[in-house]
Amino acid sequence: MNIFEKHVFVCTSGKTCPEQGSEAVCDALKEEIKERGLKKTIRINKAGCMGQCGNGPMIVVYPQGHWYCQVSVKDVKEIIEKDLIEGKKIKRLIYKPK
Ligand code: FES
Repeated sequence: MNIFEKHVFVCTSGKTCPEQGSEAVCDALKEEIKERGLKKTIRINKAGCMGQCGNGPMIVVYPQGHWYCQVSVKDVKEIIEKDLIEGKKIKRLIYKPK
């Protein structure tokens, strides 16, 4: 069995992210990873509350430790191409805690 190189955690069971569309973001990430044949190296996981409620949908990419906020389905391709494949941070989506 292979070991994943990267994990994306999507908050899908907290109080606010699900209301902000996190399930759709998670589904879109999974679908895009599957279509691109990346399932053996990149894992998309549902996660509980990340303690940053109200800023969602929240996702975090490991091992980079990139926290993204207000992610929408339309951001999914960019996240996969720029962050997960090229390893670059997407500045406009980076979460900056207050
Ligand atoms: S509900 Fe998503 S961070 Fe709390």
